[in-house]
Amino acid sequence: MKHLQLQPRLRLLADMVPQGARLADIGTDHGYLPVWLMQQGRIASAIAADIGPEPLDHARRTAAEYGAALDLRLCDGLRGIAAHEADTVVIAGMGGETIIQILTDSPWPRTSGCTLLLQPQTKVELLRLWLSRNGYACENERLVWDKGKLYVVVQMTAGEPFTPDEARLYGGLHLEGDPLYGDYLVAQLHRLRRRLDGLRHSREGEDCGTLPQLIAALEKKKEALK
Ligand SMILES: C[S@@+](CC[C@H](N)C(=O)[O-])C[C@H]1O[C@@H](n2cnc3c(N)ncnc32)[C@H](O)[C@@H]1O
Repeated sequence: MKHLQLQPRLRLLADMVPQGARLADIGTDHGYLPVWLMQQGRIASAIAADIGPEPLDHARRTAAEYGAALDLRLCDGLRGIAAHEADTVVIAGMGGETIIQILTDSPWPRTSGCTLLLQPQTKVELLRLWLSRNGYACENERLVWDKGKLYVVVQMTAGEPFTPDEARLYGGLHLEGDPLYGDYLVAQLHRLRRRLDGLRHSREGEDCGTLPQLIAALEKKKEALK
């Protein structure tokens, strides 16, 4: 049997999928994640969903090439999947706002007690805020370097709604134990300092709001790692 190799970002996601899961991979594209998990015997079933017919065809070809049984669905987000069909939902490689839209349209992962594994390409702070306010609790967060880029995977399940402070939205809800936490703080501080410089040099002399305090809070977290 031919074996698939996963890039580090997808491998981290695969490692976070619970053994024996009934998986739904939303925005599956090539289908590598569900095919790899099926090949390894790690999951009981896999729905591979995508909004585009071409990505779904790609997933179909991957499944055929590697001899894995995937349940393919052409649908927007979770709209074509019923709550009883999956206990683990992966949404990876999309913008944070798209992930929020998908979970707004289909709130069942919270009510059914699903494990959500989310890997946003952008707006992770906004996603953390939305999830926390909408009754998801962070169980874990993990980091991985892949092709020179640092990615975060957020693991959520149903919890009580709350609003985290800004330092946790930017510094992570559950990242303190990750070996790459220092790298993450450096990257976030770099982004925030650039934003602050931009505001200070803007012609309008924009209000910097709470940005200086946020930077100071993340610097403190970084110092504490030494
Ligand atoms: C960059 S690929 C990510 C593929 C894979 N999940 C990964 O992380 O490597 C994004 C995929 O999400 C799909 N997509 C975007 N919006 C979607 C939506 N609302 N519902 C389902 N699929 C979506 C796109 O068609 C595309 O195939």
